[in-house]
Amino acid sequence: MAPTGECPRLIVDCDPGHDDTLALVLADVRGELVGVTTVGGNAPLVDVTRNALLVGQMYGIDAPVHRGAARPLVAEPRNALHIHGTHGLAGPVLPELERAVASDDAVEWIIETTRADEGIWLVPIGPMTNIATVFRLAPDVVDRIAGLSFMGGSADVGNHGPVSEFNTLVDPEALHIVLTAGVADVRMAGLDLTHQFVVDDALEADLRAIGGTGAVFAADMVGAYLDNVEGWVGRRRGGLHDPCAVLAVTDPDVISFTDRHVGVELRGELTRGMTVVDRRPGDRETNVRHGHTLDHDRARSILLDAVRARTGVSS
Ligand code: BDR
Ligand code: CA
Repeated sequence: MAPTGECPRLIVDCDPGHDDTLALVLADVRGELVGVTTVGGNAPLVDVTRNALLVGQMYGIDAPVHRGAARPLVAEPRNALHIHGTHGLAGPVLPELERAVASDDAVEWIIETTRADEGIWLVPIGPMTNIATVFRLAPDVVDRIAGLSFMGGSADVGNHGPVSEFNTLVDPEALHIVLTAGVADVRMAGLDLTHQFVVDDALEADLRAIGGTGAVFAADMVGAYLDNVEGWVGRRRGGLHDPCAVLAVTDPDVISFTDRHVGVELRGELTRGMTVVDRRPGDRETNVRHGHTLDHDRARSILLDAVRARTGVSS
């Protein structure tokens, strides 16, 4: 994989969310975070937008936050409150919010920003609604961006359906639009990759050992996430999903990729929201760099260093 340059510029489209929070910290420390856009997903839009602002406040992230889509293109909205908590950030004591959104039109802001400035990465780590709307309204953006790195889908097991991952299941039509838009460099961090970035009690302990408000906040999030995962699937072990999509841009050497064709199932009764990763041998048309193997120890140490760099900066 070609290096992405010293300091890639990123727009992170997110629904924080525990793992979204750590992805934002990583994006701001390892890259240049140009802006944050929000989308209804893990929790309703009002909550994830407030959380994005709080996370910026907590970790000294100055990128503007733009509010995006409240609901998917076609499907009824669905949330993941059983994992992330009633307001999307269960666990830590949340500070008073002191910040405000820069706009209520994330889509328009992404269009304007990518038209004005070539070579920015789009990093969607929630349902793909905003990005699909951008490509529909402004197809020229496809050739203005450096690429798109997303957390979504899976090459094997699902989480919110037998073969369906949450972000893709929430808005499969949107992911279909994005995967067929013709973006030259699309990187996929699906569950088959993100489950390798292990969240366990040891990660919580490592974060807590760093000390400082930001690290304790992160440790409290991880503790609550593990409690909820244990209640859901019966074991204290989960995947740190969204940071993988950031690492795919800022630290692509920690991930091994293979070019594949990926499509989204839009109709199946059991399989709606499934990403179909064509892993047959032979020369085939490809549209995605499928991330399939993670260097876990390096990824964890990059994450811990990023939190360490921002643990005392809340304002
Ligand atoms: C994805 O769903 C959300 O709950 C996480 O934030 C992540 O983006 C994992 O399936
Ligand atoms: Ca997310």
